[in-house]
Amino acid sequence: MAAAVGGVRVAVALLMCVLGGQALDLLRATATSGSPPSPPRVHCWCSSFPNTTVCSWPEPSHSPPTHYVASYSERHQQSVIKQCQLIQPGSSSSFMIPESSSSSEQMWFCFLPNLKLLTDYIINVTAVSPGGSSSYLSSFMLEEIVKPDPPVDVRVSPRGTRNLLVEWSPPPSWANLDILPLKYQILYQWENRGTPKSVNLGPFESTKVELKGLIPGRPYIFQVCAKELLGLGRCSDWSSPVKITIPRAKV
Ligand SMILES: *[C@@H]1O[C@H](CO)[C@@H](O)[C@H](O)[C@H]1NC(C)=O
Ligand SMILES: *[C@@H]1O[C@H](CO)[C@@H](O)[C@H](O)[C@H]1NC(C)=O
Repeated sequence: MAAAVGGVRVAVALLMCVLGGQALDLLRATATSGSPPSPPRVHCWCSSFPNTTVCSWPEPSHSPPTHYVASYSERHQQSVIKQCQLIQPGSSSSFMIPESSSSSEQMWFCFLPNLKLLTDYIINVTAVSPGGSSSYLSSFMLEEIVKPDPPVDVRVSPRGTRNLLVEWSPPPSWANLDILPLKYQILYQWENRGTPKSVNLGPFESTKVELKGLIPGRPYIFQVCAKELLGLGRCSDWSSPVKITIPRAKV
């Protein structure tokens, strides 16, 4: 039996280029003795443009790493490394944990304040354990990872016999609505003889829309998502569903 000799270094790299975008993901594991932890599965997004950028990753339930080191730099200035502010799972913090992070997994977060536009950033999240370390490396531009929190306070009310007024409020975490407006999409769903149906409407720049020609007596479910007006990044997660049935007209 060959015994592993201390000091053996193993490097595994996986390179993944996302076509059509600038994104570059690179996972690297370095074993110093036994087995290194698996590289963290990091996801970054900007929920308020340009000041609130968050990266998060789940804590493995089996043999979690002893700690993480999270840092970032501008691609053209890689000597200037900034530490990302780590928030451990379950800890209360002065930061608002983004709504779009609801998950049953224990999540780590780290905050990258005041990023600049039109700048390529590199993030490095390294999981460290006695058996070695693994890094997740990725590059991104703020413009690509914009994803607002969902709109709130969605209200749906009947207007006449077949119309509905859908109203909502912008995500409160989106700080600069005047300078950087949002647009919205509406998803509504119903069942027709057991078959699920859905319609996706928009984009709308206002925060209310009247929908016409709905069927009285049929239950509808409404959700709204928010996207940066120029179309940067992605639409938010859908808001919590709101159910409504237009009353049948009394004969
Ligand atoms: C971002 O944060 C900085 C300091 O924290 C503040 O001065 C600036 O006004 C903020 N920018 C926006 C667009 O909110
Ligand atoms: C990522 O961070 C770790 C921990 O600070 C460091 O050892 C490693 O060299 C960094 N990787 C790159 C490519 O900068």
